[in-house]
Amino acid sequence: MTDTGPEGFASAQAQATYRSPVLGSSPASVAVSAAAVVKRYTQGTARIDALREVSLTIPAGQFLAVMGPSGCGKSTLLHAIAGLTRPDVGKIVVENTDIATLNDRQLTHFRRRRVGLVFQSFNLIPTLTAADNIKLSLLADGRARDAEARLPVVLERLGLTNRRNHRPDALSGGEQQRVAIARAMITDATMLLADEPTGNLDSISGQYVCRLLQELCQEQSRTIVLVTHEPAVAVWAERVVVMRDGQVLAEFATREFSQPHRLAAHYQDLISEPRIGSRSAPNERNS
Ligand SMILES: Nc1ncnc2c1ncn2[C@@H]1O[C@H](COP(=O)(O)OP(=O)(O)O)[C@@H](O)[C@H]1O
Ligand SMILES: [Mg+2]
Repeated sequence: MTDTGPEGFASAQAQATYRSPVLGSSPASVAVSAAAVVKRYTQGTARIDALREVSLTIPAGQFLAVMGPSGCGKSTLLHAIAGLTRPDVGKIVVENTDIATLNDRQLTHFRRRRVGLVFQSFNLIPTLTAADNIKLSLLADGRARDAEARLPVVLERLGLTNRRNHRPDALSGGEQQRVAIARAMITDATMLLADEPTGNLDSISGQYVCRLLQELCQEQSRTIVLVTHEPAVAVWAERVVVMRDGQVLAEFATREFSQPHRLAAHYQDLISEPRIGSRSAPNERNS
């Protein structure tokens, strides 16, 4: 793979390799198992089938990219895995926990401790410094001592030490996304779910974030699910699942494609395949 990241990243990495004691003792072999997951929305009289019997297994420690055209259900799937959206039908098991069995309090605990979320729009609190944004989820969980102990390590690992007292509006897009990743990883969540994390970044910053995610996966055995429609981003993952119209259309290993443009061509071929039967796209269907 071509090394397109900015210089200095490798040395920053050598200085601070963040290793989590929690993650080191977490040998579960399957991180996520989704079985025939259905999610429908209604808008007026229209029914939108956002997920139509999606089944997927994600091994622990895998870096998975989920690709697909806009509206195909990628974010809905990610939210269902994170416990932010409850499926109408089907089962989602995350690290041996069937998340449908969790009550609201347990679900909050699950989201705070087990999953880290990263969004396209960063979702940082504008009035807080980078350091305070990063610590916030641990503080909300009553873990101030953990927050203080881990903050310097996480800042250094993400190359943010000299940005710690800056507010988001004084940071570049790439730095803001690194703050958001730091916020997601400081809790020691074993799973990082990233929804189009490079969507608002220039290509250099985007590649930097991709490499960071890949390294977090390799160094710390974190499971990463990355939603993207950009082949140059998906190529950093180990495996790609392609969705269309609320369903899993295909999957492949990225090692089959040495270059992003080959992956892009394969992806285009897949999503241009004629639809099976006469089913229309979910967004066009009425109940
Ligand atoms: N809260 C919601 N209410 C109604 N429709 C929704 C809602 N969330 C998503 N949808 C619809 O579900 C489909 C899948 O959306 P989404 O998962 O966001 O797709 P993607 O992330 O692949 O662009 C789309 O047609 C979208 O408009
Ligand atoms: Mg989306």
